[in-house]
Amino acid sequence: MQSPSAADVTTRPKLVVLIASTRPGRVGLPVGRWVYERAVEFAGFDVKLVDLAELDLPFLDEPKHPAQGDYVHDHTRAWSGIVDDADAFVFVFPEYNNGITAPLKNAIDFVSKEWAFKPVGLVSYGGQSGGLRAAQMVKQVVTTLKMVPVTEAVAITFVSQSLDESGAFAPDDRVVNAASAMFHALQRWATALQPMRNGT
Ligand SMILES: Cc1cc2nc3c(=O)[nH]c(=O)nc-3n(C[C@H](O)[C@H](O)[C@H](O)COP(=O)(O)O)c2cc1C
Repeated sequence: MQSPSAADVTTRPKLVVLIASTRPGRVGLPVGRWVYERAVEFAGFDVKLVDLAELDLPFLDEPKHPAQGDYVHDHTRAWSGIVDDADAFVFVFPEYNNGITAPLKNAIDFVSKEWAFKPVGLVSYGGQSGGLRAAQMVKQVVTTLKMVPVTEAVAITFVSQSLDESGAFAPDDRVVNAASAMFHALQRWATALQPMRNGT
């Protein structure tokens, strides 16, 4: 598959790569950095890396339902601004106890309309399952918020085996190709959904 031409660059969708595990020593950091670098290389997006550990959101502490968008906390307004500004997302997340991580669910719940009509690529990882059970749970949640999870996902099995001596993520071609297919799909969906995001 070819990367987008230079002519497309002026209208590049904004992509947020979200690192969704927060514990010290997490694999999510090297995997997320690798995904970010591949997204930049793809050259079809303006890419931003957002790390939930750095964002440091508390558990949802807004008095009103997020769908009202009437936030009282600065941390919510900051997170709302990041989500609202993006046209597409990649969530990078592990599977914890066959399910979604608490920080990811919390970050999704914190805001509402800001997610709507935006595609999301799922990069899951874990042991034998490659985080697929968590990925299925993420789909259930994000479709409720009118996001479109693209079919072209990346599931990384036995993730710790793909870390090199320096701790960087160094996956095989299967993962590299899956990520490339995901970026292409995200770009197409981000463009197709633009009128929906504009409310037209
Ligand atoms: C609380 C917890 C629960 C886990 N549950 C699963 C699981 O259900 N399936 C799986 O494949 N790996 C599981 N693992 C192993 C993780 O895939 C592995 O530790 C991975 O590095 C976690 O991602 P992180 O380093 O970004 O936190 C679990 C790890 C933790 C810490």
